[in-house]
Amino acid sequence: MEKKNIEWSKLGFGYMPVDYRFVAHWKDGSWDEGGLTKDATVTISESAGVLQYAQTCFEGLKVYTQKNGDIVAFRPDLNAKRMQDSADRLLMPKVSEEMFLRALDEMVKANAAWVPPYGSGATLYIRPFLFGSGPVIGVAPAPEYEFRMFATPVGPYFKGGVKPIKLLLSAYDRAAPHGTGDIKAGLNYAMSLYPGDYAHKHGFSENMYLDAATRTYVEETGGANFIFITKDGKLVTPKSSTILPSITRRSILVVAAEMLGMEVEERKVPFTEVKDFAEIGLCGTAAVISPVGSITYDGGEILVPSGMDSMGPVLTKLRETITGIQEGTIEGPAGWIHKIC
Ligand code: PLP
Ligand code: COI
Repeated sequence: MEKKNIEWSKLGFGYMPVDYRFVAHWKDGSWDEGGLTKDATVTISESAGVLQYAQTCFEGLKVYTQKNGDIVAFRPDLNAKRMQDSADRLLMPKVSEEMFLRALDEMVKANAAWVPPYGSGATLYIRPFLFGSGPVIGVAPAPEYEFRMFATPVGPYFKGGVKPIKLLLSAYDRAAPHGTGDIKAGLNYAMSLYPGDYAHKHGFSENMYLDAATRTYVEETGGANFIFITKDGKLVTPKSSTILPSITRRSILVVAAEMLGMEVEERKVPFTEVKDFAEIGLCGTAAVISPVGSITYDGGEILVPSGMDSMGPVLTKLRETITGIQEGTIEGPAGWIHKIC
C-alpha cells in the first residue's frame, strides 16, 4: 500500500480529512451496526441535543507505525471505557468496547495510506465522539444519538515540539467541584476557549488551572495533566476528582515505578510547592510529554530549573520510554499495544 504524499515531519496538530470515517446511529433504545463512510459532513436536526445543550463527549488517541511495520493503537480499551463514563454523566447511550474497537480497526485499516511512517515524528490522531443528534427543546436528553470516529495525521501539539513552553496561572476555573471536570465533555473545552485565547494573546502556550473550590491546588491545563519531578528524582502528579483521568499519566506512573524504578506519588499539589520542582511536564495523548519552562502568576514568575532550552533529563527518559513502547522499540506491560494490522 502506497503512503500519501505528505511531508510527515512538517505536520502540526491540525485537521486534515482522510478517506474514511466510522458512523453509527442510536435510536429506539439500540445502536445500529455502524460502518464506514466517505462523507466527512454530519446532517442533524437544527434542534439536536448537541447544538442546543452541548450534549456531546469525545476521546483522543493515537495510532503508530511501529519499527517492524505493525500499525497499532496505545491502550484504546481505556479510551472506550472513559467514553462510557462520559456518556453516563451526560445521559447518552454507551458505545460498547466491542463497537469502539471495531470502529477503530475498520477505520484505520481503510485509511492505512494516511498512517504516518515509523520515525517520521508524526502519528495518526483518532477522534471518537458521541453526540445527541435528535431534537430537543426543553432541557432533556436527546431521543437519538450518533457515534463517529475519524482520523487525521498530526505532528506535535505545541509548536516547537519538545521545546519548553510558558504557562499562565489562569484567573478562570476549569471545572467545578462535583461538576464535569473528570469526563471528556465538549463543554469543558468550550469554556476553556476564552481563557486559552487570553493566554495565547499574552504569549503563553497554555493555562495552568487551580482547584475551583479553594484555588490552592494544581489541577491541570486545558488539554493535559501535570507531572512534576522533585529535586531528588521523585515523580509527583496531582490527585483530584475534577481533572481528566489521563491515560498517558496513568501509563507514565506505571512506567516510572515499574520500569524505571522511580518513586511516584499521586497526591494534592499546592501551587506554593510548584517553585520547588526540578522539572515540570504536561502529559496527554496530544501533548505526549511536553516540558514546561516557566509559569507566570499574578505577582511573579516561576522559572523551572530545567530551563527554557530543552527538556530535563528525567522527563526525557520518561518520554523516550513511553514513546519507545508506543513505537515498538521497548517492551511495555502486557496488553498496552493493540495491533490493528
Ligand atoms: N486533560 C485534559 C483536559 C485533556 O483534554 C486530555 C486529553 O485527552 C488529557 C488531560 C490527557 O489525557 P490522555 O492522556 O488520556 O490523552
Ligand atoms: C488529546 O490529548 O487527545 C486531547 O483530546 C487534548 C485536546 C486538547 C487536543
